[in-house]
Amino acid sequence: MKVLLTGGLGYIGSHTAVELTNNGYEVEILDNLYNSSRRTLGKLKKITGKAIKFYKIDLLNFKALDKLFLENKYDAVIHFAGLKAVGESVEKPLLYYENNITGTINLLKAMQKHRVNQLIFSSSACVYSNENVAPFKEDAKLSPINPYGRTKLFIEEIIKDYCKANKDFKSIILRYFNPIGAHDSALIGEDPNGIPNNLMPYISKVANGKLKILNIFGDDYDTPDGTCIRDYIHVVDLAIGHVKALDHINKITGYEIYNLGTGQGYSVLDVVNAFNNVCGNLVKYKIAPRREGDSACVYACPDKSKEELNFKTTKNLNDMCLSAYLFEKNNKKR
Ligand code: WQD
Repeated sequence: MKVLLTGGLGYIGSHTAVELTNNGYEVEILDNLYNSSRRTLGKLKKITGKAIKFYKIDLLNFKALDKLFLENKYDAVIHFAGLKAVGESVEKPLLYYENNITGTINLLKAMQKHRVNQLIFSSSACVYSNENVAPFKEDAKLSPINPYGRTKLFIEEIIKDYCKANKDFKSIILRYFNPIGAHDSALIGEDPNGIPNNLMPYISKVANGKLKILNIFGDDYDTPDGTCIRDYIHVVDLAIGHVKALDHINKITGYEIYNLGTGQGYSVLDVVNAFNNVCGNLVKYKIAPRREGDSACVYACPDKSKEELNFKTTKNLNDMCLSAYLFEKNNKKR
């Protein structure tokens, strides 16, 4: 089965490319390299032993996309490509709406023209409303609070409408909770440009002496230790969730939505303590003011994925922390 990964050189995409290849899928990657590096291709070859075909294409370039689909018969597409920095999306909403939504519409148009009828979409738990009480089920209230989250929700709705209008088209929408960690090889991992916004890459840089101290955004939330709770899922488990979704997509009609999370919440202090236990007391921190928009407690109900995708996470918080630390240690880039 030949699968195109849009944004396949990114954090989640590259880990998914590894797991799909290891499971016998023929993978090809499209990426515009805006938020990723061509160097990742060589790392994927080292890990999988396979030279994965890569096309430097921007989804806003329909002509190039059309040519790619004309020249290659894909059985399915996994759509990772998109801008994903929450803060940046607030400053530059039009950039996010054009890039994420227009890019997806171009992709769907190319799939329609070339009769590619299976799509897995990389969505996010940030589509859920902050009013929900954890654990979050797939039918929980939806109300994203930033343009990035709204692009994910709007794309979900576009996919649903497209499925209703095209009876042969099948889509699985995967809502990620908090992917962290790195491949055991320490060759690929989370490598954001600039100062990380997310917790784990920030902690990993502090532990490797690349940043001075971690600011914990608030310890006065209504949680056991006062810091926010999230559902951290190892990126390799998350990647395997995509293999399970691809294995399953033939069995559905229309679309289905699945959470990809562990169902276990951990606080910021839980993560810092686990990291220090596994990697040595390397993470200095101080309590800072709350970050706007943060919810106190978010974690998944993983039951639907478990029952229908036969998906179960296997890696624990220590695995996530150690793999993140070793990737950052090995990643000389910055
Ligand atoms: C986790 C916790 C922070 C950094 C975001 C996106 C979401 C998804 C995952 C793409 C929070 C605290 C963080 C720091 C801290 N990305 N924190 N100091 O906000 O749950 O979700 O990433 O889909 O869309 O919104 O993840 O890692 O930013 O924060 O105290 O320097 O760590 O307050 O409680 P979040 P995060």
